[in-house]
Amino acid sequence: METARAGFLLLLLSVASADRVQTRRSEEPVRLFTEEELRQYDGSEEHRPIYMAVKGVVFDVTRGKEFYGKNAPYNALTGKDSTRAVAKMSLNPEDLTSDTTGLTEEQLQSLQNIFEGTYKAKYPIVGYTASRILSADGSPNPDFKPEEQPQFQIKDEF
Ligand code: HEM
Repeated sequence: METARAGFLLLLLSVASADRVQTRRSEEPVRLFTEEELRQYDGSEEHRPIYMAVKGVVFDVTRGKEFYGKNAPYNALTGKDSTRAVAKMSLNPEDLTSDTTGLTEEQLQSLQNIFEGTYKAKYPIVGYTASRILSADGSPNPDFKPEEQPQFQIKDEF
């Protein structure tokens, strides 16, 4: 009986703390990541979250540790923008890049489906890559439209 009550209490506590984590997450401002910063979140540090970017959007994929963690099959995709790899379903090192040059219509469609159906549906957005917002020469990237970004608030960024 005591055990059952203790178990119930534990359950209540874990539900309450899970709820707190969720709330804190959604209130956290999104960040702008340089390549070097993003590289810190490649799953090699046990207690650090795991991040990867698709189409310049940085996702916290820590809850997919069985896919993305150290020694997991898709670890190579983490700590960077892996748009091309996701579009081509490839783990080839040369595809571990944000470069979409020369992708076929079919690959671009597949990228969009996985972006929406897997990443946006499953993982919290923690930020954007700097190169999504700024071009290589530091000028604003004309393709970046803040009003179209999920969870993007200008006050969080600048
Ligand atoms: C023979 C080849 C492959 C097989 C049989 C396979 C199979 C699978 C399976 C069974 C899952 C788990 C789905 C789930 O539980 O939700 C998965 C997830 C995934 N696969 Fe593959 N896969 C293959 C190759 C690849 C390659 C080459 C990539 C390269 C990008 C890739 C990217 C992914 C990703 C990113 C996920 C995780 C998606 C998530 O976060 O939910 N897969 N794959």
